[in-house]
Order: sequence, then C-alpha cells, then structure tokens
Amino acid sequence: MSAFKLLLLPGDGIGPEIAAEAEKVIALLTRAGVAQFEIERGLVGGAAYDAHGVAISEDDMKRAHAADAVLLAAVGGPKWDGVPYDVRPEAGLLRLRKDLGLFANLRPAICYPALADASSLKREVVDGLDIMIVRELTGGVYFGEPKEIVDLGEGQKRAVDTQVYETFEIERIGRVAFELARKRGNKVTSSDKANVMKSGYLWREVVTALHKREYADVQLEHMLADALAMQLVRWPKQFDVVVTDNLFGDMLSDEASMLTGSLGMLPSASLGAPDEKGKRKAMYEPCHGSAPDIAGKGVANPIAMIGSVGMALRYSFDLPKAADAIEAAIGGVLAKGLRTADIKGNAPSSVSTSAMGDAIVAELAKAL
Ligand code: NAI
Ligand code: MG
Repeated sequence: MSAFKLLLLPGDGIGPEIAAEAEKVIALLTRAGVAQFEIERGLVGGAAYDAHGVAISEDDMKRAHAADAVLLAAVGGPKWDGVPYDVRPEAGLLRLRKDLGLFANLRPAICYPALADASSLKREVVDGLDIMIVRELTGGVYFGEPKEIVDLGEGQKRAVDTQVYETFEIERIGRVAFELARKRGNKVTSSDKANVMKSGYLWREVVTALHKREYADVQLEHMLADALAMQLVRWPKQFDVVVTDNLFGDMLSDEASMLTGSLGMLPSASLGAPDEKGKRKAMYEPCHGSAPDIAGKGVANPIAMIGSVGMALRYSFDLPKAADAIEAAIGGVLAKGLRTADIKGNAPSSVSTSAMGDAIVAELAKAL
C-alpha cells in the first residue's frame, strides 16, 4: 500500500478545531486500508507567530517542500492586527503559495440538495449547483511590484499595488481550466476586466489564443468580472468552469460559497506545475478564514476542511473513489438533517464541530 506524507498546519482561530476533524477522516482512511498516511504537524499564522515570531518557520517551509501535500486549516485574526506586515498570519499563507509555486487554486462550489434551502437564494437557483472556480494564485495584484506605501509629507501618503500578468502565467492557468472542463461540462467562462485593465486585455487575448490553438472542442465564453458577480447570484447554473485572476477569484469564490449555504462548505486545492514524474506540489485548505468570532466555541463547520481532504485524494493521490466517498458521506449526513450552526437554516437544532466530524467519519466508514 502506498504511503503518503502529509504536512498538517492547523493554524489559529477555528483552524485547530476543524483540523482535528480532518485528522479523524485521515485516520479512518488509513485504518480502512485506502492508503497509508503519515501526518507531520507544523505551525503557521498566529500559532507560528506566538511560538516563534514568524508567519511560518524555515523548518516548516522545508517540511512543506518535502511533503506529498500540505493540509492547512486557517489563519488570521484581530489578535495579530498590530504585528509587522511581513510576519502577520496571512503572510504564512502567501509564502506557502508562492514558494511552492501553487499557481492554480480550484474552488468547487457544490450545493448539496439537502442544503438548497440553507442558501440565501431560492432553491431552484442553487439546487444541484456544481461549478468550479479556478483562481490564479501566484500572480496579479497580491504579488505585483511595486507594492508600497510612500510618505508624501504633510500628512499625505500614497499606497501602490501593482497588477502584473505575463503570457505564461495566463496560459498555464487557462490550461488547467480547459483540462478540468473536458472532464466536466466542457465549458469555460474566462473572467477579466479587459475593458479597463491592460492585464485584463492580455488575459483575454492569451485565453482566446490558447483556446483556438489547443482547446477548440471546449466551449469558451468571456465575461467581465462585474457582470459575472451579478450572474453568479442571478443564475449560477449557467457556469461550469470559471477561470479568473487572483483578486477577482478571491471575491467571486467567496460569493459562490454562499450559493452552497455557507463559507464553511467550500474546500480548495492549490496546485503547482507537474514535475518530470507528473507529481505536483499541492496544498489543500478550506476557502474560509479563521472565523475569530466563533473560535474556541466548538461550533465551526468542519465540512470545508474535510472536503479539502477529499480534494487531496483526488488531485494528489489519485484516489478518486475515496474522494467520491467523502463527498457522498458529507451529502449523507446532511440528508439526515445534521447541521452545524452556520447551515442550520430552519432545522430544529445544530451540532458541534466534533459531532459533525464523527458523523461524517461514521458515514464514510460504511462506504469504505
Ligand atoms: P472568515 O472566513 O474567517 O469568516 C467570515 C464569516 O464566516 C464569519 O462570520 C465566520 O464565523 C464564518 N465562517 C467562516 N468559516 C466558518 C466555518 N467553518 N464554520 C462556520 N462559520 C464559518 O473571514 P473573516 O472574518 O473576514 O477573516 C478572519 C480572519 O481570517 C482574517 O484575519 C483573515 O485575513 C483571515 N482569512 C484567512 C484565510 C485563510 O486562512 N485561508 C482566508 C480568509 C480570511
Ligand atoms: Mg478570500
């Protein structure tokens, strides 16, 4: 049986609470003989700052490079508001993404039938929704230089962020989107602001050329990012794969999460380029943050985190059946009416983080 090395970074806030539920799932997968997982633990974000005064230690970065996949829960929160920019919790995340070259962020927004009423939108708008948002993750305005605040004197400052994209960056993320579409609904919606941004103009040009050259069998449409934000709540089922830049992808995927009932439902995969052996660096994490408002209360929804384990099985470990089984187990407990507080809707009561995790593990155990 294959043995896979996972680096688990629980982070801070609700991170450790939901990470504990992911560990239960991984322990079950090992027990059931799906694969052998070796889990190493590290510190990131506020946890790393409190222990070592950094956002992530060099030691943990080394272990991240050596792992078959990194599993991260969440980081950030008001407790670290005053810390220097370079060591704030989110810097740990950005460093992992950049240093591991994780340019492709896959965020599947799936509305489980049992939750169609938990969405703030009408049931018919979201029921059966299954879209994949592909966000470019290592370029754009989050990393572009110059990035600075300049003191102009007399109480005035100037803040600068720079949006930069090069052809190869757009091409490789476009390729990920087209490849995914071929295995799904065969449609890609590419989103930019080609009407007002040079980087958007290039984005559209490169995606159009790539499509014509290599993916003419896939349906391609372009949509301005503001229009897409509107269409996502008007009729989201028109989309299959959406590909967009770092900033728009960040916002549009948060918006999409609410179609599924809660931010606590959305997992993600962040993938690098395949090496000669076809292996790619990867990190899996829920799309949400550390939810400081509910941290320590044991009420956080662990589904996005557990779903991220499922994505690791699918995209890093070539275990699609086990990944399907995790999704089915999540759907199963939801169908039985189990709800954490964030997806409670009209349900009579809600359960704790660990009760939800245990229920998913029990459901999954029956399938393995
Ligand atoms: P957030 O995602 O932490 O929380 C937004 C809202 O959703 C809160 O009301 C929270 O209680 C709720 N929520 C999020 N995840 C939930 C879950 N699993 N179960 C139940 N409810 C959940 O975003 P917010 O509050 O804007 O940011 C808090 C901190 O997290 C900030 O420091 C931010 O920078 C950081 N952050 C970190 C991310 C990461 O670790 N990947 C991503 C987004 C934000
Ligand atoms: Mg975000």
